[in-house]
Amino acid sequence: MGSKGGPLFTMATETLLLFSRHRFLAYLLFVLYRNLADCQQFIIPFKSPSDCGADEFFDISSLSCSRCGSNQRQSSTGFSCICQPGYRTTNVIPDKVSITCEQCPTNRPAVTKDGFGCVRCPGTLSDEGKCQCPPGHILVERDINGNPLNEARCEACNSNSPALSLADIRGDRCERCTSTFINSSCVCTAPNVPAGGLCFPSGILSTNVNPSVNYAQLKFSVQSAWFVANLYSSSAACLVYSNLTACQALGNMCVMNMHSFGGLSADACGLFNTVYRSKAALSSVQDIAYWKVDLPWLFYGDEPGLASRVLQTDPVPTVFSFRGRNKNTVIELLAAIYDVRGEFLRWEQVGGSNLQIAAHRASNQIKFVHPALGCFLWVAVED
Ligand SMILES: *[C@@H]1O[C@H](CO)[C@@H](O)[C@H](O)[C@H]1NC(C)=O
Ligand SMILES: *[C@@H]1O[C@H](CO)[C@@H](O)[C@H](O)[C@H]1NC(C)=O
Repeated sequence: MGSKGGPLFTMATETLLLFSRHRFLAYLLFVLYRNLADCQQFIIPFKSPSDCGADEFFDISSLSCSRCGSNQRQSSTGFSCICQPGYRTTNVIPDKVSITCEQCPTNRPAVTKDGFGCVRCPGTLSDEGKCQCPPGHILVERDINGNPLNEARCEACNSNSPALSLADIRGDRCERCTSTFINSSCVCTAPNVPAGGLCFPSGILSTNVNPSVNYAQLKFSVQSAWFVANLYSSSAACLVYSNLTACQALGNMCVMNMHSFGGLSADACGLFNTVYRSKAALSSVQDIAYWKVDLPWLFYGDEPGLASRVLQTDPVPTVFSFRGRNKNTVIELLAAIYDVRGEFLRWEQVGGSNLQIAAHRASNQIKFVHPALGCFLWVAVED
């Protein structure tokens, strides 16, 4: 056992247990296991990638640190080795244990982005030993046919119309900038507000949103990292750009917030209501007055918050009978499936193989669940 109460693995008939910190408990369980069954014990030292040195990598197959080859160092993930700055990779098919590295000549001291070539830089070198270009420029290391250049070039991307281009994330191609950045010459500068990868005009929606999820019935609320990252940008993109994906994501967040409606608060449902009101004058969908164009249908009446009351006190009818004239009726259940980001994924037939029996309440009541969707259906069978 580790002298500092270090972690311990006990392997007992297909059971791998990891104990850390609680040395006493670990010891107790260890003894218990030893007495419990006639099984083999294996103890291996616990190592994590952060335990490996700068010239070692964490070998995921042996769960231990292994040494890198010469002129190599740990990669950024820690799971492999890369050449040191100023050294290029010479193997055609490198793998983590057997890359080989060769120093670049002094007249071409930088390593190309792909790691395989040596090149002269028009400007400065980064700490990684690669060429660096000023902001708004891309690095060109090959000619148009793919032949490596002896000296790399930095080319400026033209952000004016009709080019409207911007360096891509790898910094090696000028690409048309995304539509929400076009009004501001491809950069989202103040007073515009960048959020969620989009650019918003200032003053359309306060950035001071409330990212908490309120469980009113359980009387507690938590701050959601998902809401912190996406609530403002989804609301703004839905409001300003009528972005359907963002509107669905905002609707999902209101539902995740249990339709709670705090009145003045800029929480998910409050923001949904803000967008909803901004569309009041527009037409409705499918002749349903409370289903506004571009938005999912969340409000069951003009009154925000009604949905949560309906859910709690006056549930929508979910009981169907097959008696009398309805004999031999078939109910087809269809689910519209969206991911949490609001992307429509598919229609899915509910029933058959994707409904599983989960519980029996009385002898004639059966609960079915849809494991992937997490929704369930009670079916009462009558004679
Ligand atoms: C972008 O500019 C056009 C024309 O100047 C304007 O009509 C439009 O409202 C602007 N869009 C945004 C989101 O600022
Ligand atoms: C719509 O919103 C989504 C999610 O916020 C975003 O990823 C996407 O880029 C937006 N589309 C456009 C055209 O702005």
